[in-house]
Amino acid sequence: MGITYYEKDRLFKLDTPASTYMCAVTDEENFLGHVYYGPRLTDHDAAYLMRTGEPPFVPSKSNRERLAFYDTFPMEMPTHGIGDFRDDALAVRSVSGHSAVKLGVVSHEIYKGKKSLKGLPATFGKEDEVTTLDITMKDEALNMTVVLSYSAFEKVDAITRSVRIINNSSDDIVLTRVMSACLDMDNENFDLLTLHGSWARERHINRRPLTRGFQGLSSIRGECGHQDHPFMAIMEKGADEDRGQVYGMSFVYSGNFLASCYVNQFESVRAMMGINPEDFNWLLKPGEEFTAPEVIMVFSSEGLGRMSRTYHDLIRNNLIRSPYKDRKRPILINNWEATYFDFDTDKLVGIADQASKLGIEMLVMDDGWFGHRDFDDSSLGDWYVYEDKIKGGLKYLVDEVNKRGMKFGIWFEPEMISPDSDLYRAHPDWAIQIPGRTPGQARAQYVLDLTRPEVVDHVYGQVKAILESANIEYVKWDMNRPLSDMGSSALPPERMGEMFHRYMLGVYELQERLITDFPNLLLENCSGGGGRFDAGMLYYSPQIWCSDDTDAVERLLIQEGTALVYPLSSMGAHVSDCPNHALGRVTPFRTRGYVALAGTFGYELDVTRIPEEDRNMIPGQVKMYHAYNDLVRMGDYYRVSSYSQNNEYDCYMVVSKDKSEALVTFVQVLNRVNFHSRKIRLKGLDPEKKYFVTFVDEDEETSAKNGGERTYSGEILMKAGLLIPRPWGDFHGMLISLKAQ
Ligand code: GLA
Repeated sequence: MGITYYEKDRLFKLDTPASTYMCAVTDEENFLGHVYYGPRLTDHDAAYLMRTGEPPFVPSKSNRERLAFYDTFPMEMPTHGIGDFRDDALAVRSVSGHSAVKLGVVSHEIYKGKKSLKGLPATFGKEDEVTTLDITMKDEALNMTVVLSYSAFEKVDAITRSVRIINNSSDDIVLTRVMSACLDMDNENFDLLTLHGSWARERHINRRPLTRGFQGLSSIRGECGHQDHPFMAIMEKGADEDRGQVYGMSFVYSGNFLASCYVNQFESVRAMMGINPEDFNWLLKPGEEFTAPEVIMVFSSEGLGRMSRTYHDLIRNNLIRSPYKDRKRPILINNWEATYFDFDTDKLVGIADQASKLGIEMLVMDDGWFGHRDFDDSSLGDWYVYEDKIKGGLKYLVDEVNKRGMKFGIWFEPEMISPDSDLYRAHPDWAIQIPGRTPGQARAQYVLDLTRPEVVDHVYGQVKAILESANIEYVKWDMNRPLSDMGSSALPPERMGEMFHRYMLGVYELQERLITDFPNLLLENCSGGGGRFDAGMLYYSPQIWCSDDTDAVERLLIQEGTALVYPLSSMGAHVSDCPNHALGRVTPFRTRGYVALAGTFGYELDVTRIPEEDRNMIPGQVKMYHAYNDLVRMGDYYRVSSYSQNNEYDCYMVVSKDKSEALVTFVQVLNRVNFHSRKIRLKGLDPEKKYFVTFVDEDEETSAKNGGERTYSGEILMKAGLLIPRPWGDFHGMLISLKAQ
């Protein structure tokens, strides 16, 4: 059992294989205090860490200084307005207009397994995988109950937390702030690591020292967005890829979020994560309850690398539900960068013709097949086939593609409505807008009001009809603008502050219905590239398009930041044509292939028009995908060296769980003159094993220079290193395969 209650100390101890989390209840006011989070402990006698006996903050001895106690006590669920002047996790507006909340523990329950969260994505686990602790707290004055749910996983070092609030009173209560997780710790000279970016450069890693006052990141875009990501890691100053203590917090939610750290007067840090309180007000009628999404906390005492591998295991096994999670995904070719809006049946069949001969397994028809869409300024909402382009109809096209031995996939952007659409002409009020204001367009489109059940039903009906009209086995679900002008003609004024969250619940419901009705559908989420790549969406789709930037070098940074939290099996990555459409760079086709192999793998180009030399490489890449995808999808990922830090090259590897096999990807971004070969120390191997090392797909000359294939011990490769020759020129990649003898 991963969770124990020690009655005498009123202390809860949550254990994972290598971490322990403890919290305890105080004598006086039954506050739930944070005791410890760190390396696994056998003993539990640590409640003294809450410092309840330390003057001048002793509540029992000094009623005079009660606020001083509240303002320093490490709270598990800090509340507003009672004298804890740090930022809080829970605030309300009561019927009498007050905002304070004070919570005392009243009971708890420990059980095997984990309950799902109604309407929300969440991790799951069987009874032998996870144990859950529900701590029930009560605000007596408000007659409001708060249940904190902690789940400790038995095989991975992850602890999740979510919050449920119930209004037991006979009055309305408005929730104005509900943070899902809070970590109150002494600031041991921590750094804060977060992920930031923009369109086409998502999730770049940013690390800086934690300093006094507030710091953090948030989104108010209605999606997590390209700019700031719902994840943060608090790390010991010296912690690196392989060493040092790291606390990760990842939000299983796709809408507005706040991830914050506040370092206070006593140098303690309060780290919190939850729904962004800005534009959030949730009316709880008597008897109603509200569930806040969960946060996944991961502790690693072996640096960021271990943290990433823990997230990968948890997300692969206990968050992604799709049957595809354990399967090789079909190698797809998507026509977006190949044709943009300029395509028809013949062109697509022409691409399928070529692609199928090269070993590509699925054709995905991207944006432009519906309504009268020839550009990005019309038809969103009109999900019926544009017969002028798709001559012969959708079924004919799909059958033609199927005849060539390929699967067929299709693009939708179901959450949107174009002002130039039949749907908008029929239901202008279905667009999110504020009466009396003209809503702002982005990419010439508005967002549908998914807080309205009839809108959700209508959109779903259209998507379903298309999927039933032909043999469609994959959907790319796109979302190409943030939410603004938040107003719903169906919500009463007192519920308008619920709109952002209700919108997300609408999206989740749509996707839940989709995967329930089409259980074998491969769903890939997308949002202008990787604007909604988050743990929440992975509950519905096993993969997400990582970025609209398909340049191999830019992708190194994007994929590195993404893989900090998310498994390689979830990263949509394709080989595209050059000069790259996002930034004009020319990289070798081979390197583009190596970099895309770290994700789901596919193509985003017109295979009938690329240089023959490149086309001829595709069968080899397909072969490599089939040879290595099981390893990439299921193995342990190690970052060896990052181009973001050394400015010369990038190197990462994947090692199979049994350490019998590994694949190293090396990309020399910028060559330097007159240096000898690079010595790279590999990671994650078995020191006892001998590995046969092959430079895969390298030309013979390079292979020979490096001594060709040979055997090394895992110990030598990790402690002494492997010599990697310097390829001639920039942007050259290498793939190195290791097989235990
Ligand atoms: C977004 C996606 C692209 C493509 C276009 C189509 O930008 O990220 O991959 O589907 O939309 O409009």
